[in-house]
Amino acid sequence: MINNETMQSILARRSYKVFDSRPIGDEELETIVTAGLYAPTGMNRQPWHFTVIKSKEGLEKFGEARRNLPLPPGIPAAAIAAMGDPMRNAPVVIIVSGKDGGTTPQDCCLAMENMFIAAASLGIMSGWDHAMVMDLFKNNAELKAELIPEGYTVYAGAFFGYPGPTVKDRGERKGTVEYI
Ligand SMILES: Cc1cc2nc3c(=O)[nH]c(=O)nc-3n(C[C@H](O)[C@H](O)[C@H](O)COP(=O)(O)O)c2cc1C
Repeated sequence: MINNETMQSILARRSYKVFDSRPIGDEELETIVTAGLYAPTGMNRQPWHFTVIKSKEGLEKFGEARRNLPLPPGIPAAAIAAMGDPMRNAPVVIIVSGKDGGTTPQDCCLAMENMFIAAASLGIMSGWDHAMVMDLFKNNAELKAELIPEGYTVYAGAFFGYPGPTVKDRGERKGTVEYI
C-alpha cells in the first residue's frame, strides 16, 4: 500500500463518542464543508443541503431535542449509560439532507464521508449519529422545519470535534475483499 497523506487521513479517521472542549476554527470548518461539496453526485445533481450547527444557542437547542429523543426499546440500561451525553460534547453538528430522487441517498453519504476524511486530515474526528437520520427529524416536525429545507430528507448526521478519550481501535479490516 502507498502510504501518502490522503491514505494516512483515511486510516486515521475513527468514530468518536466523546470530544474535548476545543472549538473548531472557521478555516478548519470551511475546509471540512468544502470537502463535502466536492463529493461526486449522480448526474452532477448536487442535491444536498448542509445544515452546520456551531453557535452556542444552536447547539443548545439541538442538544435539547437530541437528548429528549426516546431511545429504541431493547437497549440495556448499561449500554445507554455507557453512551453518555448523546451530544458527545461536540462543538459542531453537520446534517446532510437532500432533495428526493435520483441518487440522493448515496450522494449525501459520500458528502459526509468526504467531510469525515477532511476532518481527520486536520486532527478533527467525527461520529455518525444514526438517531438523527432515523428518528429525530421524522418525529420532530418543528425542528425539521427550522433546520432542514422544505421537501428535503435527512440522510446523514454527524458530530465533529477534537477527539476526547481514545476509542477502542476498530481499525483492522479483513476478509471482505476478493480480487478476481
Ligand atoms: C450508517 C452508519 C450508522 C452509524 N450509526 C452510529 C450511531 O448511531 N452511533 C455511533 O456511535 N456510531 C455509529 N456509527 C459508527 C460506527 O459504529 C463505526 O463507523 C464503526 O464501528 C467502525 O468504527 P470507525 O468508524 O471508528 O472505524 C455508524 C456508522 C454508519 C456508517
